[in-house]
Amino acid sequence: MTSTAEPTVGPPLALLAELTYRCPLRCPYCSNPLELAGSSAELATPVWLDVLSQAARLGMLQVHLSGGEPAARRDLEALVEGARAAGLYTNLITSGLLLDRARLERLRLAGLDHVQLSVQDSEPGGADRIAGFEGAHARKLAIAADIRATGLPLTLNTVVHRHNIGRVPDLIELALTLGAARLEVAHAQYYGWGLANRAALLPTRVQLDETTACVMAARERLKGRLVIDYVLPDYYARRPKACMGGWGRRFMVVAPDGAILPCHAARTIPGLVFPNVRETSLADAWSRADAFTRFRGTDWMGEPCRSCDRREIDWGGCRCQALAIAGSADAVDPACAFSPLHDALTALAERESATPPPAFRYRAQRTEGRGQRTERTE
Ligand code: SF4
Ligand code: FES
Repeated sequence: MTSTAEPTVGPPLALLAELTYRCPLRCPYCSNPLELAGSSAELATPVWLDVLSQAARLGMLQVHLSGGEPAARRDLEALVEGARAAGLYTNLITSGLLLDRARLERLRLAGLDHVQLSVQDSEPGGADRIAGFEGAHARKLAIAADIRATGLPLTLNTVVHRHNIGRVPDLIELALTLGAARLEVAHAQYYGWGLANRAALLPTRVQLDETTACVMAARERLKGRLVIDYVLPDYYARRPKACMGGWGRRFMVVAPDGAILPCHAARTIPGLVFPNVRETSLADAWSRADAFTRFRGTDWMGEPCRSCDRREIDWGGCRCQALAIAGSADAVDPACAFSPLHDALTALAERESATPPPAFRYRAQRTEGRGQRTERTE
């Protein structure tokens, strides 16, 4: 599991603490694994508190408390308090459904710095269908008001795809109405559940171009009122993004069962063995675990990345996408025009986005204690 390689990077910037995979929603682009571990595999409170304090000692500045739905953990307040005591900036990434005004107040008193609330669409019918939960949208609007009433800063986070992409202007208006200081418009990424639902989610290139123009114009128009982050989709790109800021360079993910991962989808890569917080410190994992050093930097790269002048800009793109499309995590990310699979990827996106979308395949939690998955389509 470990190599003798010396650390080649500074400490990670942030910890993505996936507290649980439990979630009341069933979004078809969820970044959680297809095989969801039950709650019995989750780390106990003292273990998480130790992880948070290790993260601060390692030099991390922030923790993103995520899931699943992190508020499904009854000890969320204690974890926020522990993170704050350790000196970490705390960001809660939530569906909002398990929060109310009193709990938000307790979280704020515990030291919570910021809330990132997901919305699935600007109108309730579409939003509830995407979330797989009737009434979800109305509850999110109420909780957004509660977040603002507690004085916590709010970011609205929306994943766009062919079912809601035409309503990005309305989503921008919604962010303003709800008093968000920031809106993240992120195109769906195609690994995990997103890959399983790709044909149902991919927008057309025309839809993408219209949305990009709309976001760029809104950014100008709303300067000083609303910051809009925009995450482009890879399937119509010519160059990949630096996924996670580069493998093992900026982020650590701790999964609900304690596995320490370079990205949330890393477990899809065969042959990587991941350390676990039950046996390994975050510092050791970061500096020595093969799972972190394998694709860190540029030594692992073959051609064309090895001699490309973008190799220290995008760090070779996304290893999980290379695996999903090219069948090997060592391959060039097919989002890159230098990949032999790039044209095929573009053609696939154009073909799938032009055909009627199939029904969503909704994520579902394994039935606790029975080891079976109950998965539903629309
Ligand atoms: Fe990035 Fe490699 Fe493509 Fe160059 S060849 S742009 S390093 S993925
Ligand atoms: Fe794993 Fe991009 S999602 S490297």
